[in-house]
Amino acid sequence: MQTVTVNLVSTPAQRGYPIHIGANILAQPELILDYLGQKRVAIVTNTTVGPLYLDKFRADLSVHGIVSVPIVLPDGEEYKNWETLNLIFDALLTHRCERNTPVIALGGGVVGDLAGFAAATYLRGVPFIQVPTTLLAQVDSSVGGKTGINHPLGKNMIGAFYQPQAVMADTSTLDTLPDRELRAGIAEVIKYGLIRDPAFFDWLESHVDALLERDNSMLIEAIERSCQHKAEVVEADERESGMRALLNLGHTFGHAIENAMGYGNWLHGEAVAAGTMLAAEVSRRMGMIDEGEVERIRNLYVKAGLPVIAPNLGPEKYLRLMGLDKKVQGGKMRFILLENIGRAAVHADVPAAILTEVLTECTADA
Ligand code: NAD
Ligand code: GLY
Repeated sequence: MQTVTVNLVSTPAQRGYPIHIGANILAQPELILDYLGQKRVAIVTNTTVGPLYLDKFRADLSVHGIVSVPIVLPDGEEYKNWETLNLIFDALLTHRCERNTPVIALGGGVVGDLAGFAAATYLRGVPFIQVPTTLLAQVDSSVGGKTGINHPLGKNMIGAFYQPQAVMADTSTLDTLPDRELRAGIAEVIKYGLIRDPAFFDWLESHVDALLERDNSMLIEAIERSCQHKAEVVEADERESGMRALLNLGHTFGHAIENAMGYGNWLHGEAVAAGTMLAAEVSRRMGMIDEGEVERIRNLYVKAGLPVIAPNLGPEKYLRLMGLDKKVQGGKMRFILLENIGRAAVHADVPAAILTEVLTECTADA
């Protein structure tokens, strides 16, 4: 087992937390016992992950005298909304969960974001533990404390920063993950190489096949390196006043794609891959990277089985949806662009003509 630590420096100092990564660690609840303030927990999961892992997890917890309240949500990005959030509150209240009853998220990013937002707001905040079961959640969404829900007008627009007390990433759970979901997770792994680690990008070019074949040691290495990057970024800028925005490479375009195509139709990682290709093309047209670098990025996504051409929504629709992005400041859109493979920066000065050209010439009818 590997452990990466997130060391948050702002008060309260004890908010630092471990990310345990390894095969079969779900069967070791002793890893999280220290964070359970009472002998009762609420476990939030969904109708897909629940039947696979909930009973065993509850039984393993009960060996340590921990009683659990299961909360099983409908599965899907389209359920990441107020109605589903309220199902969690209904269950927490019905079972009289208290201020020190921890909420455990057992599932992918949707369960994690919903359960985290519920934990942040129920009784003004209860302890929260992430048990991510998708690659995407293990490398990204379970770490860093972004929680929330979608709004019909915009993706992830309602939420809270609320850090977990621990993260337990069991790579054995990836055995049951559908191929398409595994590929979507690889998109967020590639992101770390693109924004801050050229050597990791090189490594991914050579090892993406092993990740697709679910080689456990390669998966652990990719998850550990990704979590180290995420931890460093979050430690430096927990509330995204600066460098954390770089983790949004491809997301401004990607969130517009997810919203326009109907939540759940394009997976988050797929939209991020196609969105990153648009960001790369804007970067090239602004003279920051060359065609060879764009080609390398495209080739890696193609090798990972990810989409590289965004849907043609028309520039007006893209611009309208992107105008609701959380990075907009003073009404001005800001984009994460690539200055190299391995270096990204925030740009508020993208000429409208380049944006319109890219959104027209580099997209295709869906
Ligand atoms: P997801 O949560 O929808 O999970 C994908 C699918 O896999 C679902 O059908 C789920 O039920 C199923 N599943 C999960 N684990 C499984 C397993 N072990 N075996 C079989 N099936 C399994 O999607 P995701 O890709 O994990 O997360 C995407 C979400 O995360 C988006 O809503 C995105 O906005 C959010 N996100 C949040 C952050 C953050 O920092 N909070 C970062 C990135 C993405
Ligand atoms: N996934 C983007 C972030 O955590 O900031």
